[in-house]
Amino acid sequence: MEKTLTGKVAVVTGASSGIGEATARALAEHGASVVLAARAVEKLEDLECGISALGGRALAVKTDVSDRDSVEAMVERAINEFGTIDILVNNAGLGLSGRVAELRAEDLRYVFEVNVVGPLNCIQAVLPRMREGGRIINVSSVVGKRAIPKVGAYSASKFALNALSDALRVEVARRGITVTSVYPGTTRTAFRDNSRRTKDEKRGWRPKGVTPDVVAARIVRAAEKGPRDVYITIKDRLFLTAVTLFPALPARVLGLWSKD
Ligand SMILES: NC(=O)c1ccc[n+]([C@@H]2O[C@H](COP(=O)([O-])OP(=O)(O)OC[C@H]3O[C@@H](n4cnc5c(N)ncnc54)[C@H](OP(=O)(O)O)[C@@H]3O)[C@@H](O)[C@H]2O)c1
Repeated sequence: MEKTLTGKVAVVTGASSGIGEATARALAEHGASVVLAARAVEKLEDLECGISALGGRALAVKTDVSDRDSVEAMVERAINEFGTIDILVNNAGLGLSGRVAELRAEDLRYVFEVNVVGPLNCIQAVLPRMREGGRIINVSSVVGKRAIPKVGAYSASKFALNALSDALRVEVARRGITVTSVYPGTTRTAFRDNSRRTKDEKRGWRPKGVTPDVVAARIVRAAEKGPRDVYITIKDRLFLTAVTLFPALPARVLGLWSKD
């Protein structure tokens, strides 16, 4: 594997599971030193050992992204250990399913605390330390481009994240820092099990999706090149093209989704 990221330091939030774990491994395989941030510190320490055993450099730091002090402490440890931060992957997040009419405001607030305020905390803590060539990579979702039934609140959090990404991209361009939005579709992780639910109801059909390694490979490319947007599959692109060109048609099709 080509060590395209040798000498770079990457912070990956949500590195204890799924896309974040796969991304941390992939960045380390490409030569980056990785800071592993999440709450499940035992899982992070296992990952740190796994990366070190393969000759990589990693640092596990227990972090709650919704807590600014916790994020500041993680960044401080990263700087003490590796001297700088070149890449920030804002991946930590959770889902919230339920019809809009039934949503609990406290669930909505919690999901925004993690999915929106979390990345904001990380961006604000990292930016003062980031040099020219820095990369900020925010993991959004296909449903952050078009909401679908039963995940309106989760979609709203990803729309909000996209808005921060779009504004920040222009604000930091002069410093030579890029901001990438990544839009995965269904990915085979523990995401669904870790999602909040408004009520205990039968879960709808879901596509099989891709493995987290597929998303991780695209995030590594983003860390190398700093594109504006990253989509994972042709199907995701087709879905988003269809809803852009024919906004009413998918609404009818997606309406079937929300039937009891
Ligand atoms: N899987 C999908 O189908 C899919 C599709 C589109 C987008 N995404 C997005 O991809 C990202 C990763 O999701 P995933 O599929 O890998 O799900 P996952 O396996 O459930 O992983 C979520 C990660 O977020 C971390 N996390 C949650 N709350 C946190 C907090 N307060 N502070 C720090 N870390 C926190 C979790 O770690 P701890 O519990 O240890 O803190 C875990 O490592 C999310 O932003 C998600 O919205 C997923």
